[in-house]
Amino acid sequence: MNNADVAELLKGIDLFSKLTEAQLEQLISLVEPKDFCRDETIILEKDESVQALYLIASGEVKVYMTDSDGKETILSLLGRGDFFGEMSLIDGEPRSASVKAVTAASLLVIRREHFIQLLRSTPELSISLLIEMCMRLRKANRHIGSLSTMSVFGRVGGTIMNLIQEKGVRVHDGSGNMVTVIRNRPTQQQLAEMAGTTRETVSRIFSGLVKKGSISVAGKDLIIYDENFLEDKDLKE
Ligand code: CMP
Repeated sequence: MNNADVAELLKGIDLFSKLTEAQLEQLISLVEPKDFCRDETIILEKDESVQALYLIASGEVKVYMTDSDGKETILSLLGRGDFFGEMSLIDGEPRSASVKAVTAASLLVIRREHFIQLLRSTPELSISLLIEMCMRLRKANRHIGSLSTMSVFGRVGGTIMNLIQEKGVRVHDGSGNMVTVIRNRPTQQQLAEMAGTTRETVSRIFSGLVKKGSISVAGKDLIIYDENFLEDKDLKE
């Protein structure tokens, strides 16, 4: 990855959108590229040797927690332009979750001391970081809400709703109707790990939603025709 590629990537990241050209130049000189293979662990939950913040140049990673039985819950799937590893850098606590590459991934690494120095010298960066952290907290709140009040159908539906809010794109479906598309959708196994259920249950719920005409799957796209499907009483159990 050359400097021009790095500059293009950094400019496209919301977190850095308020930086001046000079501040961007400084940032470019601080990041170090690092590649990870599919399934390689990047951050381990509870690790105390916290060194860096990571930006995703390409590929996809999952942020997850593992319970005492080894069962994984996916907190988030992140892709190009997303960042992770900021929490421990800021509060000095051990890593709050694990992060693993889901595909081969190229990351840019910013060492802790450089990131902290950048935060101190660039108030705009601190505000952008707070905005992103608020978005993540809102998403986590929606998820907690769906866990405590809903059936498994509600949890899977709530997970799809979160994806719609996070990365849904409104497009025409070719027959004059507007639909929502989630590109590069999570697999049914990943959705199950996000919603705290099994792949078989997600598959059953998907079949019901497809039969009702609420959603369809086309390759890596998940198409949502009716965002009110959570209200559909027939599908609830
Ligand atoms: P840190 O705790 O340093 O290391 C694990 C990282 O996972 C954490 O920083 C965040 O960047 C990221 N992370 C933790 N929880 C969430 C979440 N709920 N949503 C998205 N990212 C998260």
